[in-house]
Amino acid sequence: MSQSPSVDLQARAQDLPALRTLLDDATRLGALHCEGAGLYADFSRQRVRLKDRDALLRFAEAQGLFTARDQLFQANQLNGTEERAVLHTALRRPKGAPPLWLEGENISEAIGEALARMAELADAIRSGRWRGATGASITDVLHIGIGGSYLGPALACEALGPPTGPTVHFLANVDGAAAQHVLADLDPTRTLLIIASKSFSTLETLVNAQTVRRWFLARGLSEGQLKHHCVAVTTNHSAAAAFGIPPEQCLPLWDWVGGRFSLWSPIGLPVALSHGMEAFQALLGGAHAMDEHFQHAAPEENLPVLLALFEYWNQQVLGTQSHAFLPYAEALTQLPAYLQQLEMESNGKSTTVAGAPVEGPTGTILWGTVGTNGQHATHQLLHQGTQPFSATFVLARRGAQGLADHHRWLRAHCIAQAEAFARGLTTEEAERALLAKGADPEAAARLAPHKRLPGNHPSNLLIVDQVDAESLGALLALHEHKVFCHGMLWGINSFDQWGVEFGKVLGDTLYAAQGETALAETLGLSARASLAAALGDGEAR
Ligand code: F6P
Repeated sequence: MSQSPSVDLQARAQDLPALRTLLDDATRLGALHCEGAGLYADFSRQRVRLKDRDALLRFAEAQGLFTARDQLFQANQLNGTEERAVLHTALRRPKGAPPLWLEGENISEAIGEALARMAELADAIRSGRWRGATGASITDVLHIGIGGSYLGPALACEALGPPTGPTVHFLANVDGAAAQHVLADLDPTRTLLIIASKSFSTLETLVNAQTVRRWFLARGLSEGQLKHHCVAVTTNHSAAAAFGIPPEQCLPLWDWVGGRFSLWSPIGLPVALSHGMEAFQALLGGAHAMDEHFQHAAPEENLPVLLALFEYWNQQVLGTQSHAFLPYAEALTQLPAYLQQLEMESNGKSTTVAGAPVEGPTGTILWGTVGTNGQHATHQLLHQGTQPFSATFVLARRGAQGLADHHRWLRAHCIAQAEAFARGLTTEEAERALLAKGADPEAAARLAPHKRLPGNHPSNLLIVDQVDAESLGALLALHEHKVFCHGMLWGINSFDQWGVEFGKVLGDTLYAAQGETALAETLGLSARASLAAALGDGEAR
């Protein structure tokens, strides 16, 4: 009986050279890079040798990763605890692809119909054919949604640059300040409301939707006129109808699309409204290209597989405790937030698919800041802190039109940071640098230890040609598949989220118990009276 794969992998770390030593091998980049779906991945700064990579690939095979990958693209039930198939990839299959059937339904047909309705709606709004209650065309869209019903559309609308159609505004948080802020400058006669909620039961979305409904009415629209200003994206059409949105203005969602995987569904409607259906189709095309790569690329050249395996190695063998996602592209400022849900809601689990406790750390604590801004905020800890971490850098070959020098600086700093994380700076090197600048030897010896950088931090460098709909689609699909592979390595279900369900129930209970006495009774805590007193009555100021 061979030892558990992770024990074998652990043993490999015993004689693992430092990253700066591994980087002395000039052939390293040639062996540790791969390309797919328009993305180039430089894995040379991962602290692995080729033999370790090969051991990781054998481990993936032993975990059944490649078999599960093939099942992902068929209508197999991969979300066992919710008894659902996982078919977000079906949303981006090209027209003409063989139809996909699920429980007797041709879901490819349903997806095609939904895309046609999105295209029609986008054309009606963008052409001005769709008129509001007073006959005015729509200039602004207010998208209400949270989590996967918000993060994807918000990221894509920003990443694709200035809108060529209506401006899309997003409202997610239940904090009333968010609604007040977003409504302050909107004209109800020229605003289209999208209520995006797979369940149509998420409290933040429902509370915000009711407030915006009252806003429309308070600004002169009648109940009957609301239909000119509201659409919904949901699986729960009856709840939408009860809210006053007619079926013909409800776009579909399906149970086989998880919330954090739903940008490719009508949840992505804001992209079609702000940038056109062509842009949304390009987003789908980029994601499909990554699907094809994931399905067919050899394991040692497979981007999602290698991303997952190296992250597994970093956590389980090298003990990294978080992952810094650092997009050196202003257009991708919201990408870390999107990936936080994708990674942490998918793999923040402690029970295996079989129902047993997971051994060892799972999930990736992902955080990040757009480059170069992060260099002036969080990178000090990365350079000289004590906590092991890994990182991913994203860089585009082409930057802002006509500002070539800006892009040269951006690229230079991205590479410099990756190099500094990897190689670090020894005390001796720091002292030599000080002396070379003419520092007093005693002063140099005193300061040098404070200028030491431990280094040895692994990172990926992902390069796209430019940030556009297609490369964004490929980048997001890459990380969807990486999350799937990572979950497979731990044997967990990456597609349910029972933890957040519990929090919702507890929140509902406490909401019902507002007011000092009721709150104290509900909390049942020894400090309840003081907590309730501290919280006050919860009334608006
Ligand atoms: O965070 C829990 C969650 O269910 C996410 O998975 C989902 O994206 C979000 O809340 C919003 O859910 P809904 O689209 O049903 O409003």
